[in-house]
Amino acid sequence: MRVAALLVAAGTGERFRAGQPKQYVSIAGRPCVRWAAEALAGHVDLLQPVGDAERLGEALAGLDHLPAVPGGAARQDSVRAGLEALAVHAPDAVLIHDAARPFIPPGTVSALVEALSALPGAIPAVPVADTLKRASSDGRIEATVPRDGLWRAQTPQAFRFATLLDLHRAAAPGATDDAALLEDAGLPVSIVLGDERNVKLTYKEDLVRLESVLLPMLLPRVGSGFDVHAFEAGRALVLCGITVPHERGLAGHSDADVGVHALCDAIYGALAEGDIGRHFPPSEAAWKDADSARFLRHAAERVRARGGMLANADVTLICERPKIGPHAAAMQARLAEIMGVEPGRVSVKATTTERLGFTGRGEGIAAQATATVLLPP
Ligand code: CTP
Ligand code: MG
Repeated sequence: MRVAALLVAAGTGERFRAGQPKQYVSIAGRPCVRWAAEALAGHVDLLQPVGDAERLGEALAGLDHLPAVPGGAARQDSVRAGLEALAVHAPDAVLIHDAARPFIPPGTVSALVEALSALPGAIPAVPVADTLKRASSDGRIEATVPRDGLWRAQTPQAFRFATLLDLHRAAAPGATDDAALLEDAGLPVSIVLGDERNVKLTYKEDLVRLESVLLPMLLPRVGSGFDVHAFEAGRALVLCGITVPHERGLAGHSDADVGVHALCDAIYGALAEGDIGRHFPPSEAAWKDADSARFLRHAAERVRARGGMLANADVTLICERPKIGPHAAAMQARLAEIMGVEPGRVSVKATTTERLGFTGRGEGIAAQATATVLLPP
């Protein structure tokens, strides 16, 4: 059976109230729609996204999919547009999935497709567990509604392609899901047991629940970094992204931000992508006196490009002077800003070496860092 998936991503997310449509919001390091596409990709022969072609192209980069087609004013119109685009491929079955549902439980797609051998439609749904009330608009209860036989419908919903296309072509507006079109036509649709983790991103509060579903799908990887720079008179002292008042700066090809360099190496190490020297060779004139923020931005960008997220970073500066404590909070904030993460994920602390060694003698500053990144397996 040739199976196509249609990913509807043309909504504007009014209830979610973000600056951008909710399907592009990052959850556990990846856009919502990408989670959905990746969950479908391995199980279908064709993937047809519906929505803004440029944004979808960006969010789905590297995945095998048909060119996105524009959606319509209502979800039903967007589904219809996708089905029309798929018609030339004449798949046997189609799965209609909301881009706002990033988690598709393993086994769901195969159970749905299997059900299609007996019936023209199948959807995942979970039985209603809570007692249901009907209330007036001022919040006063009018009745208890029996919940026997009630289910909450989810997506992906699976259909024989030709059947669904015919029904959509003939449908009146107003259907909130695709199974409703078969129900209205008197065609049987079966339920396969859904999963509470298949949450649709509708309101901001759903983000927390979805993070807790998706984060365990990522693997933690730890990297460490170490760097040393000697003091040099006549240079500004740049440490962890800020200028610290001191009588000497650090010698180096770039701005010699020893803390940022150690942190970059920790991140590259966690990614197993070499070190700062590989990405920004000191032999290149372009990096002379360069603002090291640029290197750190690149390392953080590599984490995102791998579909991951920075869980935390911890930098230790090793020197007798200057005292780091008064500047630590500003350093944390600046590092977090450069990397595009919340300040709570970044720690900066310092220690001395009890006047021993080169740091003890005030010849230079050493820094070590660890970073934990969460990456798709
Ligand atoms: N959808 C679509 N085209 C529309 C409306 C919705 O492709 N005209 C998609 C959404 O992008 C989403 C799915 O259908 O993936 C489910 O719709 P819903 O959760 O209602 O999303 P929005 O319509 O974007 O949100 P809201 O109703 O809060 O505006
Ligand atoms: Mg909607």
